[in-house]
Amino acid sequence: MSNRLVIVGAGGHSKVIADIAMKNGYTDISLLDDRKIDECMGFKIIGTTEDIDSLNDSKTDFVIGIGNNKTRKMIAEKYDANWVTLIHPSAQIATNVTIDCGSVVMAGAIINAHSSVGKHCIINSGAVVEHDNIIEDYVHISPKVALGGTVCIKTLTHVGIGATVINNICICKNCTIGAGAVVVKDIKRSATYVGVPAKEIL
Ligand SMILES: CC(C)(COP(=O)(O)OP(=O)(O)OC[C@H]1O[C@@H](n2cnc3c(N)ncnc32)[C@H](O)[C@@H]1OP(=O)(O)O)[C@@H](O)C(=O)NCCC(=O)NCCS
Repeated sequence: MSNRLVIVGAGGHSKVIADIAMKNGYTDISLLDDRKIDECMGFKIIGTTEDIDSLNDSKTDFVIGIGNNKTRKMIAEKYDANWVTLIHPSAQIATNVTIDCGSVVMAGAIINAHSSVGKHCIINSGAVVEHDNIIEDYVHISPKVALGGTVCIKTLTHVGIGATVINNICICKNCTIGAGAVVVKDIKRSATYVGVPAKEIL
């Protein structure tokens, strides 16, 4: 592992990632942002997204600190950088869980046995991902979400803060699940769903 990390994006999500990075032993942390700002949480902004290529070398790790799923996908597909996985030391990850490159797991999250997390996902603070889940690429599981056993969340879907998904449910790609929603049936149409039980809003 390198001690140098470049975080792409300098918003609130990046601050949380910078903290996890420090706890993982990174001592040289800087950020990129397309807005004209100089620093974030005391870390220097050293350029814009377009600088990823010129900064890319074998001694530099990268992670995308942007909450928007489509933006993370766009950046990850455009730039061939050493995207690393970052896990907060307080997260509980079962031994046979797989987590792909570029994903971040925040404080207090639990990922249980035989689950898999794709690339560039966010498993946010205190989220519970139960056993046998499949979390595809570019998914955001917000703080305090609870996913029951054998749940599948397809690519680019955002599960909002505090939402619950009961066991054996599949949520298709490109969905937004509203804060506090309870999903009790498979979701097969890409849309926004809110409420208890979760229903599509137009
Ligand atoms: C679901 C959500 C995406 C909808 O946002 P939006 O498209 O801007 O929709 P609006 O705020 O215009 O709301 C549309 C309607 O849905 C209702 N609604 C919105 N979010 C809701 C929710 N979470 N639960 C229940 N109803 C909700 C609104 O009250 C409104 O109802 P009305 O038409 O009767 O007034 C958003 O409210 C939400 O819950 N986002 C999750 C954010 C989150 O978890 N962030 C975590 C970051 S770490």
